[in-house]
Amino acid sequence: MIFDTHCHLNDEALLANVDKIITESLKVGVDKFLVVGWDKKSSLEAIKLAEKYPEVFAAIGFHPSNVFDVTETDYQEVMAYLTHPKVVAVGEIGLDYHWNKTAEERNTQKQFFIRQIKTANEYKKPITIHNREAFEDCLNILKQHKPVMGGVMHCYSGSAEALKVVLELGLLIGLGGTLTFTNARKVKEVCMETPLEKIVVETDAPYLAPHPQRGTINTPKNIALVIDEIAKVKNLSKKHILDVIYKTSCDMFHV
Ligand code: NI
Repeated sequence: MIFDTHCHLNDEALLANVDKIITESLKVGVDKFLVVGWDKKSSLEAIKLAEKYPEVFAAIGFHPSNVFDVTETDYQEVMAYLTHPKVVAVGEIGLDYHWNKTAEERNTQKQFFIRQIKTANEYKKPITIHNREAFEDCLNILKQHKPVMGGVMHCYSGSAEALKVVLELGLLIGLGGTLTFTNARKVKEVCMETPLEKIVVETDAPYLAPHPQRGTINTPKNIALVIDEIAKVKNLSKKHILDVIYKTSCDMFHV
């Protein structure tokens, strides 16, 4: 069995076909989905999907590129759902310096990231972290504001050297489509260096479709290609990988 720990079935590219996507995914063994929000609307949509499908769980929160116009009412309204039985994490939260380049924007992102970690800690939920081109600041915040229930470095893009710090913080490494890209030397190195029991898998669907589907609309059924690549890089049996990763994922999100 496979747990896709980061997908966006709440994205408009997939939303109309969720029935079909879940049926197809179940056929290849994907039987749990963490649908991740990025703003108020998508977080509420993730909860709706989690209520409709027993296989779906929701993560709610504000992506760093969407924090600028969040009102206090929006924040409170979304986070109140952390008591919902199928809301299992806060995410995706973090820093994105690729899209946001001014000091003012970055400062707002940092403050918002810290606030969301605190909220996750208050409700005893793990977090799912988005980091793009902001690794040092991201790690500094995580060191100073430790996510007490742990979390996942979604689509980990740091170096193999920084791994130690990330793992010491109690975080897991999320591996997805980027691991399968032909030029993914760094991610393959990370996969090799990370103990299997610290890895979870994810698709980030509809984004980041794995090779050879790269460039197409991604869905959770493609996660099999990520598992194949982990098996190749780590030279371990697929069955062993599936067993270990599934347990790690269920333990992290308490499902
Ligand atoms: Ni995502």
